[in-house]
Amino acid sequence: MTRHFLRDDDLAPAEQREVLELALRLKADRFAARPLEGPRAVAVLFDKPTLRTQVSFTVGIAELGGFPVVVDGRLAKIGERESVADTAHVLGRQVAAVVWRTYAQSRLEEMASAAGVPVVNALTDDFHPCQVLADLLTVAEQRGGTDALPGTVLAYTGDGANNMAHSYLLGGATAGLHVRVATPRERAPRADVLERARQITASTGGSVHVTDSLAEAVAGAHVLATDTWVSMGDSTEAAEAERLFGPFRLDAAALAKACDDAVVLHCLPAYRGKEITAEVIDGPQSVVFDEAENRLHAQKALLTFLLERT
Ligand code: NVA
Repeated sequence: MTRHFLRDDDLAPAEQREVLELALRLKADRFAARPLEGPRAVAVLFDKPTLRTQVSFTVGIAELGGFPVVVDGRLAKIGERESVADTAHVLGRQVAAVVWRTYAQSRLEEMASAAGVPVVNALTDDFHPCQVLADLLTVAEQRGGTDALPGTVLAYTGDGANNMAHSYLLGGATAGLHVRVATPRERAPRADVLERARQITASTGGSVHVTDSLAEAVAGAHVLATDTWVSMGDSTEAAEAERLFGPFRLDAAALAKACDDAVVLHCLPAYRGKEITAEVIDGPQSVVFDEAENRLHAQKALLTFLLERT
């Protein structure tokens, strides 16, 4: 059966841990896994802007012995010029895997059901699971290994209904984290995602909690995370975003309420003075560039895991 990674809970807890362990090994020995030797090709498709994702997937695919074929969604017009299913059939006959950044999660699901090769979510409106794998890798590194993940308290502040919030809930629950989301009531996470995350915590010992109090969320947290107030494809005006999310800015006062050795995550791109202050993102507790680098290692491990099972 072809395995895909469309959302964070496509990896069971033991599988997520296996991927993170492999990522740590690949970080120490960059060319230790060569599942794409040939070179076999991987299609990397973008319907939305990218920097980290394009760089980390293309570099990672090459380091795995393969060849990345980057497809600009503005030219391919998937679903417009050609159906998602036809595109999937064309790609599946030539490439070993498909990595896609797009809008609706349903497009990715359609691709996965027809491609016949692993399909990886490189960000949709609903989830950004590769980013959360990299974030978990970063937290594991900071806290002494994957054994330290269960029980870690991660507080995410900002837009609770965006892809990062949803992926922190599912991916964090899978890792046994205590995930707290601080967000205004009107931007609460999707109920089904919250429910699924709760279900997962029953077996991992984690927990999920949504609050409109930033102070409550960050109190004693080991990890603080935030994200842009306006995601790609979201039409919220800047003034409205400031009104909604201003009280949830990650600033020095919020950081002071967390553990003394708390680390700060941001998936980038960051808007200093909006969701996070320069003092915090450029300060000593920020690990955002380790986090950005860890996209590479986490995604190489993920591709290796998926290819080995396909
Ligand atoms: N929530 C952000 C993440 C960017 C990597 C967005 O979707 O734009």
